[in-house]
Amino acid sequence: MKIALLGLGTVGTGVVDVLGSNREKIAGLTGESLTISHVLVNDINKKRGSGLDGAVITDDIEKIIEDDTIDIVIEVMGGIERTKNILKAFLEKGVHVISANKDMLAEHIDELVETANENNAQLLYEASVAGGIPVIHGIEHSLNSNQITKVMGILNGTTNYILSKMTIDGWDYNRALDDAKEKGYAEADPTNDVEGIDAQRKIVLLSRLAYGRTVDIGTVPVSGISGVDITDIENAARENLTLKLLGKSEYRDGALSISVEPVLLPSDHQLAGVNYEKNAVFVNGNAVGEAMFYGPGAGSLETASAVVSDLINAVRSKDSRHKNFAPDAPAAVENGSGMNE
Ligand code: NAP
Ligand code: HSE
Repeated sequence: MKIALLGLGTVGTGVVDVLGSNREKIAGLTGESLTISHVLVNDINKKRGSGLDGAVITDDIEKIIEDDTIDIVIEVMGGIERTKNILKAFLEKGVHVISANKDMLAEHIDELVETANENNAQLLYEASVAGGIPVIHGIEHSLNSNQITKVMGILNGTTNYILSKMTIDGWDYNRALDDAKEKGYAEADPTNDVEGIDAQRKIVLLSRLAYGRTVDIGTVPVSGISGVDITDIENAARENLTLKLLGKSEYRDGALSISVEPVLLPSDHQLAGVNYEKNAVFVNGNAVGEAMFYGPGAGSLETASAVVSDLINAVRSKDSRHKNFAPDAPAAVENGSGMNE
């Protein structure tokens, strides 16, 4: 099965790594050998790592769109209008699309879903919200028996990393931001991270799924953390409060309340204990009550984990012979008394 990978930066290289290191398991789950046949990049002269033997590395998207042998496209390059048009062109051909691009999806998901549905293609986007945490799948599939009334959480790894470094380690804002960039958590231009716009896009995507309603991003009030300094954090700590950037939405009686803003939480609140690049999302449903999703919100392998899971799920559901998972051998159980809690 041939895959085109659009983008070979932080997330794209993670995708290549996960496909390489978990090759056997993935082949077992899909019954297919998955090959990256094409890679789209900006700069074809940049030195690239291993794991792409035989792949065409190009800056010419038309060459990839015209290739009718491609089965699945993974988009991890970013960009909004042009990227939407590229992905639409693939969906129109019935090619499945996987994207981590919340910037584009928050504006164009309804159009892309319509195109996907018209052409019997899948659009999967687990990595677009909360990195490696399966919150999209969780809301769309695992909690679909509920009327969901509330979604709230820490949805941006960069700002949570900055606030945690300032609160726990006493770093100043700029040092923490530089470190988040270095670690690959921040966007190429981190303005959208620190101004709350990245979290705004994510709460829009989650709310759309949770409540089954389209959400116009222009209606979502947003404020970020660029104005925060170390004295704000220290003053809050003296009051036993912790500053977190929260995305929040509630849907009651057909009305949606939604926002992104910095919030002072009691320091013993569960979200106050979510630190560094970790994200956490609370979802309230009328059957399940309150469920919490927690894990890495950004990073190369962490995000690739979600992208490659989408890939596996796309391949498995493409194959009508797909069987439900059944383990083929019992586990060898060891005494667990030495395990860490
Ligand atoms: P990145 O490190 O900046 O990598 C972007 C890649 O796309 C690079 O390989 C770049 O090519 C290529 N590219 C960018 N624009 C292109 C264009 N117009 N034509 C061809 N190639 C282009 O970005 P990233 O951090 O991997 O993020 C990629 C996407 O995943 C974004 O939508 C981001 O929001 C999303 N995401 C990121 C994370 C994270 O933790 N980083 C987590 C979740 C979602 P060159 O290599 O030649 O520069
Ligand atoms: N820049 C984003 C963040 C990447 O920091 O959360 C993950 O979407």
